[in-house]
Amino acid sequence: MTLLQEIESALADAFEKVLGERVPTPVVPSADLRFGDYQSNVAMALAKKRKTNPRALAQEVIEVLNLDGLAGTEIAGPGFINFRIEPGTFARKAGEQLRDDRLGVPDCGHGRRVVVDFSAPNVAKPMHVGHIRSTILGDSLSRIADFLGYEVIRDNHIGDWGTQFGMILHGWKTILDESALEADPVPELLRVYREVNSRAKEDPAVLDTCRSELVGLQAGDEENLAIWRRCVDLSKEGLQRIYDRLDVSFDHWLGESFYNERLPGLVDEFIDKGLAREDGGAICVFSGGELPDDQDPFRIHKEDGWKDNPAIIRKADGGFLYATTDLATVEYRIDEWKADEIWYVVGAPQQLHFRQIFDACRRWGKKADFHHIAFGSILGEDRKLMKTRSGDNVQLVDVLDEAVERAAAAIAEKNPDLGGDEAREVAEIVGIGAVKFAELSQHRMTDYVFSWDRMLSLQGDTAPYLQYSYVRIRSIFRKLDQDFDASSVKLVLEAPEEIHLSRLALRYGELLPTVLDDHRPNLLANYLLELARAFHSFFEACPVLKAEGVESRDSRLALCELASRVLSHGLGLLGIRCPQRM
Ligand code: ARG
Repeated sequence: MTLLQEIESALADAFEKVLGERVPTPVVPSADLRFGDYQSNVAMALAKKRKTNPRALAQEVIEVLNLDGLAGTEIAGPGFINFRIEPGTFARKAGEQLRDDRLGVPDCGHGRRVVVDFSAPNVAKPMHVGHIRSTILGDSLSRIADFLGYEVIRDNHIGDWGTQFGMILHGWKTILDESALEADPVPELLRVYREVNSRAKEDPAVLDTCRSELVGLQAGDEENLAIWRRCVDLSKEGLQRIYDRLDVSFDHWLGESFYNERLPGLVDEFIDKGLAREDGGAICVFSGGELPDDQDPFRIHKEDGWKDNPAIIRKADGGFLYATTDLATVEYRIDEWKADEIWYVVGAPQQLHFRQIFDACRRWGKKADFHHIAFGSILGEDRKLMKTRSGDNVQLVDVLDEAVERAAAAIAEKNPDLGGDEAREVAEIVGIGAVKFAELSQHRMTDYVFSWDRMLSLQGDTAPYLQYSYVRIRSIFRKLDQDFDASSVKLVLEAPEEIHLSRLALRYGELLPTVLDDHRPNLLANYLLELARAFHSFFEACPVLKAEGVESRDSRLALCELASRVLSHGLGLLGIRCPQRM
């Protein structure tokens, strides 16, 4: 049990003794350590209901409260109960945490099955920095959910069946450079796409040809299908290389095309069940009429009042849409995979789309907890959407290359002794870690400014700072000329910095589950920064190898061990590795 859980349960017992019934007794970490470590306002809430004096109720409860010496208590203000953890308790719990593989983190997923839909780039278009947010956030949330005891299915719902294939097919047949394709397929596919796209803008005849190529593909034309297949395969290979570098993996890659055959039947079912109807030749889902207009995704406010805002699931020409595929995808995930939850890590502009999908699925009887985990944009240093100098979308591979290059330069300067292979490996870990942490330390809805200097700084709120903190701790153990087994050490905590470091390490098990309340890895990222800062204060104030007496030295070494374990484990859940030296 975490400290918070122990206090909560003792408090529930005490309230039960006083009130004669079991009531929920939430406890929270105090925002200000002057008021102790934890705090509860239950006495105030209950006194109000029972029309008694809150301080008097709190006093009665404290008198029967049995904390077994865990913490001291005091009543503050109008009736808060404050808990101050005893140093001995921190020492005992920190020792337990050291011996626990889970580092004190409870299982709270209980095997619930969650499908995480993330990354999902569009084939034959390169992955750009917008996709980086989904990829990094989705990967971290998957790792966290997995560790917390969910059964996680990672699904890469790639856009492998879009209108872009009209252009690709036409370009493939007319301007493809086979040798360039052999050498490096993704940039060649991109060149072809861009070229045809700009020609089509100038010449309507080109656009027409592209359209008929697309119709041919959708009708099952053999040649077009073969080109499409090759194109998808090549793109997947290119993507896989990036995922390998990012250390991101998927259980499935069920792209849009996987659902093609299901779409006609799905639309018929929607019509039969009265969930969709014809409108101007197209088949549309309209409001179910159960929600107030301002909460109904199928209603929209215009100048002259509330209007219908339907989702088209079959166009008048018979074509299906993004929404149709997403409905089929939900059905598959629930029926085949028995998903309890589905998380979509997709940018904020698709908010309305997902609200419509979720509402339509509810009416269709597809039951799961749906979450659209939205995020904002990445801005350049000019605070405009990040673009290359020529105005194109910045590509992910280029970002990663530059991050690693810059990290390599910084490392060469800081630690010239690091040799060739190791230096390269460390640069990769540091550069990619920096990009990931810049993403994960922001609230996902903020539009954040992409700044190389800031994300790579060793002093800032960055991955390199955390990795460096880890390396610093490990170097203490390298200087120790003997093996050290932290699991048998009895901790003694005296200095306030020692106490604080253990307090923060123990908070890990309390904090991690809260990350999933609103799907915010930035809570973990910021916690790790706080932990690292606490380590540095400790290390400045308390000599470790030169501590007075073996007992104190071992206790401090154990604390170092604990801090480094939590640090690297937490970074691991963000998808960030730690080098041994840097
Ligand atoms: N391919 C889409 C895009 O790049 C994202 C797909 C997200 N997942 C989904 N099930 N709709 O915008």
